[in-house]
Amino acid sequence: MLPGPIGIFDSGFGGLTVLREIARRLPQYDYIYMGDNARAPYGTRSFETIYQYTLQAVEALFGLGCQLLILACNTASARALRTIQQRDLPAYGPMHRVLGVIRPTAESIPAYTTTGRIGLLATPGTVRSGSYVLEIGKLHPWITVHQEACPMWVPLVENNEHRGPGADYFVEKHLSQLMAQDALIDAILLGCTHYPLLTDKIRAFLPRENIQVVSQGPIVAERLADYLTRHPELEALCQKNGQRRFLTTDDPSAFDAMAALFYGEAAASEQVSLEALRR
Ligand code: DGL
Repeated sequence: MLPGPIGIFDSGFGGLTVLREIARRLPQYDYIYMGDNARAPYGTRSFETIYQYTLQAVEALFGLGCQLLILACNTASARALRTIQQRDLPAYGPMHRVLGVIRPTAESIPAYTTTGRIGLLATPGTVRSGSYVLEIGKLHPWITVHQEACPMWVPLVENNEHRGPGADYFVEKHLSQLMAQDALIDAILLGCTHYPLLTDKIRAFLPRENIQVVSQGPIVAERLADYLTRHPELEALCQKNGQRRFLTTDDPSAFDAMAALFYGEAAASEQVSLEALRR
């Protein structure tokens, strides 16, 4: 089996906030980013639809030679990852792996709370799945997770409206609803890879200063570095030329215009059809 790039997938742009941190932490590897912008957002869709869309992207990335994939999307990690791992992955053999962002985040969360009360802001799909409540409850039973679904946040970010007054309204609304659940919340987990772009607004509406706002990018990057150290046989299958490739299922000029906001630098994308790339 030949080495291949590490694949990073999101429904749209959000996963670029994760790729940015991964590429900073592990610059030696090649990465292919895939944004299913034509069908974003996923967060308000049904379980079956999210699973089907995510599987198509996974198969497309395998078709491009990736062996290790990160679903840099909480919605896909919550609604599709387990089914893909159990039902679809065995056909590809042990050297094809798909990892999500929920497990590494859940493992790392104790570092951010002393009260043991955390708030989760996420898409309706992620909240409905209860994945964070289950994972954190299993790993750290002393931590209580309060959830708040924010259905408008991804569309606000995807449409570059996250700095405007429309965003003020929706950020304030969901933050106050979250904080009303428990005054002892001392860490707010951004359980959607789009939300780091709203960090400044979230901070502005916090009721107290000593509440941490936790983004997943650095956590996922650190855990991936650790994972590759623990799996040298997979690490050997990761190509190391420091190259980045950006793929979108929608208009590449629209992708490129938005990508820098999430990725921190310019990205030149290519348009692809998931259908054509699947083996
Ligand atoms: N960035 C995705 C996540 O982390 C957004 C999902 C969506 O498309 O709604 O959940």
